[in-house]
Amino acid sequence: MAREKKYNAVITGLGMYFPEKIYDNKYFESIIDTNDEWILTRTGIKERRILENGATSDLATNAALDLMQRHNVSAEEIDCIIIATVTPDMLFPATACLVQNRIGAVNAWGFDLEAACSGFLFAFQTGCALVESGQYKKVLVIGADKMSSIVDYTDRNNCILFGDGGAALLLEPSEDYNLGLQDFILRIDGAGEGALHMKGGGSLNPPTHETVDKKMHYLYQDGKAVFKVAVKGMADVSYELMQKNNLKSEDIAYLVPHQANLRIIDATAQRMGLSKEKVMINIDRYGNTTAATIPSCLAEYYRAGKLKKGDKIILSAFGAGYTWGATYVVWAID
Ligand code: COA
Repeated sequence: MAREKKYNAVITGLGMYFPEKIYDNKYFESIIDTNDEWILTRTGIKERRILENGATSDLATNAALDLMQRHNVSAEEIDCIIIATVTPDMLFPATACLVQNRIGAVNAWGFDLEAACSGFLFAFQTGCALVESGQYKKVLVIGADKMSSIVDYTDRNNCILFGDGGAALLLEPSEDYNLGLQDFILRIDGAGEGALHMKGGGSLNPPTHETVDKKMHYLYQDGKAVFKVAVKGMADVSYELMQKNNLKSEDIAYLVPHQANLRIIDATAQRMGLSKEKVMINIDRYGNTTAATIPSCLAEYYRAGKLKKGDKIILSAFGAGYTWGATYVVWAID
């Protein structure tokens, strides 16, 4: 479907925040039956960051402040704040409201968006549409999750996978249609509900002593089932987006994949014909931070001077729902 737009939405700022506390693989050896070698070879994860005190709004606020400081953005200029998260501070108000107040974005509106591990891609697309319409000039899109708040640290299948973190991107309009968001394919399939979810705490199973006793307030995942569909879903959609835009592997500077498992990432890169150097990775240091994986990769590679204006990049994710998709962006910052 052709997009009606007045401008292209381009990324003009990046910020990120990871808490200091580290849970390395050795730590997990001390609390569950596992070992460093198993975790590293099955997932690619060496350590993750854990927020001991505070909530998702702290991760998001710190990421936003980092962006504002580095890119000289004042709080009053921000028009809208979109936060992708599955771990909001509370069911309501939206974490976007808490962050708006904390950073002093007195002219902004905003909302939370929930699409699990694909949350950032969905929020990015939404933010771009607001900018492309010409209605807003500065939209802050944040991916932040305190996964440690919904992980059962006695469940060895899942607790080793996740970490806490936040990252933010600023979107602004450009009249250069060759920069910024070029195309995207986003999908959902609710048939995936049973394989990855959190049963308790919502309107289906409001919290009771029983729901807590049954550990329904923790993330549940059938890792093997999710792994199979994630490998296929992420690889297929990324390849489809390449085909749709006549992109060859040599045209692409980077794949920016959701960081759930290095083996899922490798399969996607292989399908796209990309070598390892063209794949952004930070799963080894942070694990799966859900909505924060893609923007934090971008922030790290940008800071390391590895991105240049004109670079063609593909963002790609798969998550609970199921939700998945791929987004084609041309880097706009010199
Ligand atoms: N340490 C040691 N052994 C473990 C373990 C751990 N932390 N966790 C599980 N195991 C065991 C299992 O019990 C199983 O033992 P069994 O064969 O005796 O039953 C064995 O290791 C192999 O488990 P399996 O599930 O086949 O491992 P895997 O290679 O599929 O890897 C995941 C498991 C979770 C890493 C993998 O399935 C995965 O990454 N899934 C997708 C997760 C994801 O991406 N989620 C986010 C949304 S996209």
